[in-house]
Amino acid sequence: MNQVSIPVITIDGPGGSGKGAVTHRLGKTLGFNILDSGALYRLIGLAAEKAGIALTAEAELVAVASNMKIEFIPIDDHEQPLSVLLESQDVTQAIRSDKAGVDASIVAALPQVREAIHELQYDFRQMPGLIADGRDMGTVVFPTATLKIFLTASAEARAERRYKQLIDKDIGVSLHDLLLSIQERDERDMNRKIAPLKAAEDAITIDSTGLSLDQVFAQVLALARQKLK
Ligand code: C5P
Repeated sequence: MNQVSIPVITIDGPGGSGKGAVTHRLGKTLGFNILDSGALYRLIGLAAEKAGIALTAEAELVAVASNMKIEFIPIDDHEQPLSVLLESQDVTQAIRSDKAGVDASIVAALPQVREAIHELQYDFRQMPGLIADGRDMGTVVFPTATLKIFLTASAEARAERRYKQLIDKDIGVSLHDLLLSIQERDERDMNRKIAPLKAAEDAITIDSTGLSLDQVFAQVLALARQKLK
């Protein structure tokens, strides 16, 4: 089957907008594959750190991105439904730290690094369909997507959600520091020259500030069912 005719739903937006949770629920409900593209940039940052490569050394980072051995293994966990392995080591938690997110946004601003994982991302488009979560899924990687969602929320709401998640895990953090880190990452993602964070022209924007995950999911599922008919 021609890959372009395989359905794809893209869910782009800033960190903490609920993309990950919506993506995983939608994947389960529709029985579709999932691409967590942010995890790929997080993995490049982590692999570079392990290899002692600076986050600005583009050529070396391209080599890291092209050669890293990664595996995504589905697990039955509500919050973290994928186990992520790098060179056979479990890095599921390691790539979720705040630092890993900041490092990811630094390497993600390098054009050749983005190019190096373009094909890899494209290969996730397999039957019966794909839900792709990221920043440029609808604008760059899957411009022909069946449905494009841009999920956003105020920086304050996103910082509070993240704060609650970390406190629930007994990880002590300051809400103020989290807000600053989110704003710094937004700034870098929106203002970079290549594939900046923005809604595709044909995307449907949902602002999740003040909405529960159930409410956002219900909206996205209704849109998906309508488009997939
Ligand atoms: O979504 P997540 O928080 O895991 O993404 C981490 C970082 O990876 C983002 O801040 C962004 O800089 C980068 N990213 C990207 N393009 C994507 C997905 C993530 O540039 N499609």
